[in-house]
Amino acid sequence: MRTPHRRRGAIGASAFAGLLCATLLVAPASSAVPADVPTDVPAADAPTRADHTTPYKNPRLSTEKRVDDLLARMTLAEKVGQMAQAERVDVVDDPGQIAELGLGSVLSGGGSVPDGNTPEAWADTVDAFQEQALSTRLGIPLLYGVDSVHGHNNLHGATVFPHNIGLGATRDPKLAERIGHITAEETRATGPQWTFAPCICVAREDRWGRTYESFGEDPKLATKMSQMIEGFQGRQGQLDDPDRVLATAKHFAGDGFTVFGTGEGDYTVDQGITQTSRAEFEKLALSPYIAAVKKHDVGSVMPSFSSVDWTDDGLGNPVKMHANKELVTGWLKEKRDFDGLVISDWRAIHQIPGTYAEQVAASVNAGVDMFMEPFSGDPVGYPQFIETLTSAVEDGAVPTARIDDAVSRILTAKFELGLFEKPFTDRRNIDEIGSEAHRRVAREAVAKSQVLLKNSHRTLPLSGGDDVYVAGSKADSIGDQAGGWTISWQGNSTHQIPGDTILDGISAAARGEVTHSPDASAPVPAGAHGVVVVGEHPYAEGFGDVGGPQWGYDPGETELRPPLTMQISEEDTAAIETVCAAAATCTVLVVSGRPMIVPPDLLGQIDALVACWLPGSEGRGVADVLFGKRAFTGKLPVTWPRSVDQEPINVGDADYDPLYAFGHGLRTRR
Ligand code: GLC
Repeated sequence: MRTPHRRRGAIGASAFAGLLCATLLVAPASSAVPADVPTDVPAADAPTRADHTTPYKNPRLSTEKRVDDLLARMTLAEKVGQMAQAERVDVVDDPGQIAELGLGSVLSGGGSVPDGNTPEAWADTVDAFQEQALSTRLGIPLLYGVDSVHGHNNLHGATVFPHNIGLGATRDPKLAERIGHITAEETRATGPQWTFAPCICVAREDRWGRTYESFGEDPKLATKMSQMIEGFQGRQGQLDDPDRVLATAKHFAGDGFTVFGTGEGDYTVDQGITQTSRAEFEKLALSPYIAAVKKHDVGSVMPSFSSVDWTDDGLGNPVKMHANKELVTGWLKEKRDFDGLVISDWRAIHQIPGTYAEQVAASVNAGVDMFMEPFSGDPVGYPQFIETLTSAVEDGAVPTARIDDAVSRILTAKFELGLFEKPFTDRRNIDEIGSEAHRRVAREAVAKSQVLLKNSHRTLPLSGGDDVYVAGSKADSIGDQAGGWTISWQGNSTHQIPGDTILDGISAAARGEVTHSPDASAPVPAGAHGVVVVGEHPYAEGFGDVGGPQWGYDPGETELRPPLTMQISEEDTAAIETVCAAAATCTVLVVSGRPMIVPPDLLGQIDALVACWLPGSEGRGVADVLFGKRAFTGKLPVTWPRSVDQEPINVGDADYDPLYAFGHGLRTRR
């Protein structure tokens, strides 16, 4: 018995409208429009694949009816194939696997880009894979997923927005929605119909490498900013529009406050163990998912790699979220009536104790519906997953009803996305990618995300006529300011993408002389105002953990990266001291995925201090507030500690004594 699915709009208004036109113009006299088809929709394009003889191919029927009809026609092999998601790299040289195995989905992981990495190359790749899926017996179209987490960030030329921690500093959910919509438009125009975003994680341990993927440490802020989901998906019935994608609320749940030292493998925090009571977990980790499901009707949820260990029951029994039936099925699907699909994280089930057969059965039975088993064989991937799950059903380890529920959820997403009527990429918006209009929104977001922490003697805003002396390792590096999940999984200081660095922005805004000397070795002109831009190199996931792995992950990285410590580097510290000693005023900008430690003696030399976070491609937004084109309005989304030893430190803690409190942010006038 399938749970009645709340419809995100069986098919969108455009398809219904087209259907209505088609029906009125061509429908045989006997086919009265079924009762559940609304007739009050405006005209739009006619669907291209209407087939009124086979129910699941008939867009006039409800999603419910179409899913039921299709499911009843599917073999076990076809059902299990729908539950498997492969990586682009593993199918691109042999796309026939998609048809042979009846794969439900393909993803591009971070940096997994088609040759040329152009919008057309993306769309051609996705469409070629779609051809394979449509050639199967039942012609079930393919879902293609990507991590568009701050714009369509894998794609060269996409608008790259501030990472979520900066958006949290804006406290502007409508802006988050606008960004989600632009991201959806740039993503869908190149083929992918699904983004693994937003992360609604609540980062309470800043030594975590994914702190910047969070909107902040307060679950109420994460709830507020999850409005981004509506930007991705639109309102009821818009999912099949060419500027919308299925969203993913992730990582369910508690990924943001695992205990330091419990990280998985080489990680110190990431994928670790959340040790807490059920009540505290509900308040801090689960609460953002209530709005994501109930208010925003998010189409998918991704469990966390991490585990939960209940203090209620006495610590010592951590359960991986990917095998956590109490939370995935009990809380999310049953208590909160989540009717979308649960997609596993990258090979996450391999961290569940037991054999692969036990891992697969445990995760499917816990309520995970589709499995990101990216590899084609060695190491174990989607072919073995399909074999193993098929055996598990045949052996009775996994009930058929669970398979039918999972596949129904997957098919529902595909119907709601309009993929049965319009399976191929609608490229009408492809020229909007990276457009001036999109970049203006990104620039606005950058400006609103800047947090003014200190501003002695009203140092800021600078006057446009001032001479400016710019130093620091992050002033002229678009790769650093974009951070991880940009072009490649880990990001890279050397990445070049269209946009402006912070130095570009300063040079464009200042009418006085601008001197740029990264290490402050050039003389500081008399009367010049100093701006020193410091921060972190890019990283992603556990590679960003304090004390985490240092080896590079991007192709071509040959030497170890410097360790991540939340401390300002010696070189940048020296640059700050040099500039602050010589310049008329001294402003320090921190480009980082989390707070960085500013020791008291250094802070004493600094006149103005700004948290820039990871602004993305539009560095001019930083200059907009530096020079008063816009006022500083940002507020800290996370607590700014005095030292790393204070971590984890969060608003509401007893003896809360940070350098700058959650919510702090000085304002200036324009
Ligand atoms: C990664 C991340 C997850 C991402 C997925 C696909 O490991 O944990 O956030 O969506 O794999 O790239």
